[in-house]
Amino acid sequence: MQSIAKNLKREGKSLGLVPTMGFLHEGHISLVRGSKAANDVTIVSIFVNPAQFAPNEDFNRYPRDLERDKKILENENVDYIFAPEAADIYPPGFSTYITVEELSNVIEGEIRPIHFKGVTTIVNILFNATLADNAYFGQKDAQQATILAKMAADQCAPIKVHIEPIVRETDGLALSSRNIYLSSEERSEAVLISQSLKIAKEFIEIGKYDCAVIIKAMQKHLSGAKTGLPDYIKIVNAKTFHSIDKIEQGGEYFILVAFKFGKTRLIDNLYIDYREEIPVMQ
Ligand code: PAJ
Repeated sequence: MQSIAKNLKREGKSLGLVPTMGFLHEGHISLVRGSKAANDVTIVSIFVNPAQFAPNEDFNRYPRDLERDKKILENENVDYIFAPEAADIYPPGFSTYITVEELSNVIEGEIRPIHFKGVTTIVNILFNATLADNAYFGQKDAQQATILAKMAADQCAPIKVHIEPIVRETDGLALSSRNIYLSSEERSEAVLISQSLKIAKEFIEIGKYDCAVIIKAMQKHLSGAKTGLPDYIKIVNAKTFHSIDKIEQGGEYFILVAFKFGKTRLIDNLYIDYREEIPVMQ
């Protein structure tokens, strides 16, 4: 991959990278289109990264279908698919890990202690393997995207990290490869997650900025689910991921929801940019 990338760079081509774990959906495809629009060459990596799954998590049952993914990416005119084997990435004796301190230990990192270390380690390898100029990540995984942007900045990586909006089903459910795990009853209740974020948005639009009040309303809405339970609802500073009490002018925030249907854990969020007069939310 790296020698192909070197040749492309010698020809003066700009390279865009879209890291994925495959089983592609429209969320991934929107990242691919973002890369295609801004780069001469687009590389999509497909690698279910064992280092970011704890032993009790879904590494073995994570959905995989490389043939289907290849067809989807051919249709999008993607230039290269980089789909290494785990043994190529982590040969015996592999021992160098990258960690973004602090940000990796809170919220998702508290629940999944080794997760972000695995993510930053693989993404750093992908940056080095592809020599990409631009890399594309989804706001869907807000903490992941923030950590990866921080990693690139702290390491002076010669790559620009782009964070793209969340792609949703028509009823509002954020697309995720894990949605396939949901039973039909769980799937119909999963809509409550994005609806709870919409309620939060409406509160903020009318100037209700007290986090306890917003979270209580979200909790009430989510308690309508019979087949699942919220794991957490949090309102955090968008830079530190520390919980806050009040949304204030001058700040950027995320409202984060993690929701569990049995073993299936779904996450979603709302970004609030209140640096100007009026909060802008997406
Ligand atoms: P994966 O879950 O396959 O997601 C790949 C990229 O697609 C991530 O940047 C993710 O945020 C983005 N994405 C997923 N669902 C989305 C949606 N509904 N809208 C917009 N973007 C969405 O995230 C990973 O893989 C891995 O952790 C990875 C970064 C590849 C490292 O292994």
